Amino acid sequence: MGEVALRPLEDGDLDALFELMRDPESVRMAAFVAEDPDDRAAFDAHQARIRARADVTNRVVTLDGRLVGSIAAFVIEGDTEVTYWIDRSVWGAGHRRAGTRPAARAGSRPAAVRPRRQRQRGVAAGVAAGRVRGRRHRHRVRQRAARRDRGNHPAARMIVNITALIDPAHHTAGRRLAWVAAGLDLRPLGTAFLWIPVAGDVAELDIQVHPAERRAGVGSQLLEAAAGSAAEEGMRRLRTEAVAQASDGEHFCRAHQLRPVLALTYTRLSLGGDRTAGRPAPGYRLVHWDGTVPGDLAATFAHARKAMDDMPMGETAGIPQPWTVERLHAVAAAVAGRGEHLVTTAVLDADGEIAGFTELVVPGDGTGDAQHYGTGVLPAHRGRGLAGWMKAEQIHRVRDRFPGLAGLVADTADDNAAMRRVNHALGYRPTHRSALYERRLSRS
Ligand SMILES: CC(C)(COP(=O)(O)OP(=O)(O)OC[C@H]1O[C@@H](n2cnc3c(N)ncnc32)[C@H](O)[C@@H]1OP(=O)(O)O)[C@@H](O)C(=O)NCCC(=O)NCCS
Repeated sequence: MGEVALRPLEDGDLDALFELMRDPESVRMAAFVAEDPDDRAAFDAHQARIRARADVTNRVVTLDGRLVGSIAAFVIEGDTEVTYWIDRSVWGAGHRRAGTRPAARAGSRPAAVRPRRQRQRGVAAGVAAGRVRGRRHRHRVRQRAARRDRGNHPAARMIVNITALIDPAHHTAGRRLAWVAAGLDLRPLGTAFLWIPVAGDVAELDIQVHPAERRAGVGSQLLEAAAGSAAEEGMRRLRTEAVAQASDGEHFCRAHQLRPVLALTYTRLSLGGDRTAGRPAPGYRLVHWDGTVPGDLAATFAHARKAMDDMPMGETAGIPQPWTVERLHAVAAAVAGRGEHLVTTAVLDADGEIAGFTELVVPGDGTGDAQHYGTGVLPAHRGRGLAGWMKAEQIHRVRDRFPGLAGLVADTADDNAAMRRVNHALGYRPTHRSALYERRLSRS
């Protein structure tokens, strides 16, 4: 087996790469192809565009010094994706893996999602996602023309390929599906992530299109792919993540008959200011832990999580998913897996049962802003200042423990008056507003 190596792409490689990428058999098999593979000017323009993108690591693949392909790593939403195109003459020779590994290393952490088809036949030309050739998945790959004719952009046709990916991580509460949209062979345009819960019939959607690639129909096609799958999975509704007011996302949602179902206000506490002292409540005591809940509190904590189930949620209220010790562990493991700190403060009643809790997620390096996850007090214990006390104490602790932390961010439903009052008293101030959007899915 020859020696496979990677090196940066040079201007002198473009001729050879152009020839590789218009090989008819490769083009036939590839997932992402140029609209006209023989158009050298279009090829040069696209290569220039990829090379100008700071978020794309571009390498050529050599076999014993001869250029046999190209490989690129790019980051979408924090996940590194890898795409490649290999000379047909070396397909099946077993060189591919040797070539992909260094790229994965060079491009920081390996892909968190991987193509659904990756285990299928090895050396198809095109991106790692390859073309989905199995009958079961054929419908998942679409090749369409989209039109970019907005604003100052001249009308130009763009081929958009939507490829389904699979999340190899195991989740107990549901499954995550993903799609990547690409234009010409190496150009990533956007992603869609869809969460299919085990319980309930609301699928959660997150679509991101690279700012330079918007208004060309990419988001619409990702939405169509995700909505189709959600319906196939038996989901009745599609719900977005929080979409900022007056953003591209809001316009997009409204254009696609997604309607706002929960208004949220984001607030932030700057940690530079004075400290607010917590007021202890007689008969209660606080406990604090990092990461996974201690074993002796696990059962009572799972029970207390129900305190969140009646939280005002606008029209989004659905069937609450049961809280089990296993689910608590899964949440803690997910945060730890991202390298972040989950810090929890809980209040115990005289019997040692958890009456309320508040959770905060601190970035791994302890700088920037931490994000509140949830705060809840069981109905029987409300009206005694427990939420304010827990939060004030938690703020003290994280300030001491993470001196580099700048602020704490919370998103609160507009109709959750109690939580908004508590946060306001602690010094949180509004930063922006968002909404969750929803659409009914027609049965497939
Ligand atoms: C929302 C987002 C995914 C849209 O992607 P996109 O590829 O630009 O979307 P499309 O080109 O398919 O837009 C479809 C329609 O939405 C509407 N739309 C999208 N952006 C708009 C904007 N800035 N102003 C007005 N209308 C807009 C238009 O009606 C557009 O059709 P048109 O261009 O023919 O007028 C993209 O802006 C994005 O990544 N935003 C940040 C993430 C986000 O908010 N996601 C929310 C959805 S989960």
